[in-house]
Amino acid sequence: MTYSILLLGATGFIGSLIAAELAILKEQKLLERTAFLTSTSSPEKEAKYAAVPLERITGSLTDPASYRGFDIVISAVGDDLCAQQVEFIDAAFEGGVRHFYPTEFGADLSHPVSLPEAYFKNKIATRKHLEARVAADPTKGYTYILVGLFTEVFLAYNALGLSEDRRSARIIGAPGERVSITSAQDVAKITATSLLPSHLPSLSTRREIRFAGETLTLSSLFSTVENVVGHKVDVEYIVKVGVGYFRKGEGVSLI
Ligand SMILES: NC(=O)c1ccc[n+]([C@@H]2O[C@H](COP(=O)([O-])OP(=O)(O)OC[C@H]3O[C@@H](n4cnc5c(N)ncnc54)[C@H](OP(=O)(O)O)[C@@H]3O)[C@@H](O)[C@H]2O)c1
Repeated sequence: MTYSILLLGATGFIGSLIAAELAILKEQKLLERTAFLTSTSSPEKEAKYAAVPLERITGSLTDPASYRGFDIVISAVGDDLCAQQVEFIDAAFEGGVRHFYPTEFGADLSHPVSLPEAYFKNKIATRKHLEARVAADPTKGYTYILVGLFTEVFLAYNALGLSEDRRSARIIGAPGERVSITSAQDVAKITATSLLPSHLPSLSTRREIRFAGETLTLSSLFSTVENVVGHKVDVEYIVKVGVGYFRKGEGVSLI
């Protein structure tokens, strides 16, 4: 038994890496059919679609017909499309899909720090909808992929708040607070591997897959930076209170 997989967002940052991993598993005959679904088109987009190493399905993401013949959908759509996933889930299940991976690939959304965050609102609403749908149908399931921050994003966005000369930093959190970082390549590889029947024996499974390339305290991350840059970094930790964060005298600023 092997599964047929349909990928949404195959041209995106994480989606393109997942597409490459799916192509490898298909080549090894470990997946039945691998395709990506797309509805939009433009000359620039066409060039990107041509580079995706999977069968292409052209159709609406909200049309059940687009999903026919697939067991599992992996949604890797970008944040702006996140809210529309409730429609994609309904269409996919109506089209016969039995297992859905919503676009998560990040923080633990059940953690008290995540719950009030506006950024996570659409992802949390998607979870709620998906869980209600599978609760009403024992044949259906889902997978959430939780990985913390992508290493690439952690570096590109200067998540440690280092100054330009790297001699100081301002960071939200306490020195002992832990941060999980995972390379996007590993996220893609583990997402693809999780599709194998040895890991997913039943499509009705409801599971969270949590993994991290590295989980370190903020102070040990800064020690690593000090080792790399060869001098001390003067770190200002912004203190956490309850689920919010504040800097003395500056009020609350949520992460
Ligand atoms: N943990 C982390 O550090 C981290 C970092 C980055 C992203 N993420 C998460 O990973 C997931 C995918 O993010 P990404 O950065 O890889 O996505 P992305 O590159 O921004 O876009 C992914 C794909 O979504 C589709 N899309 C179509 N219309 C869109 C629209 N209006 N707005 C947004 N996307 C649209 C496109 O696919 P088509 O070409 O098929 O139309 C696009 O290639 C998200 O859940 C995001 O939160 C996590």
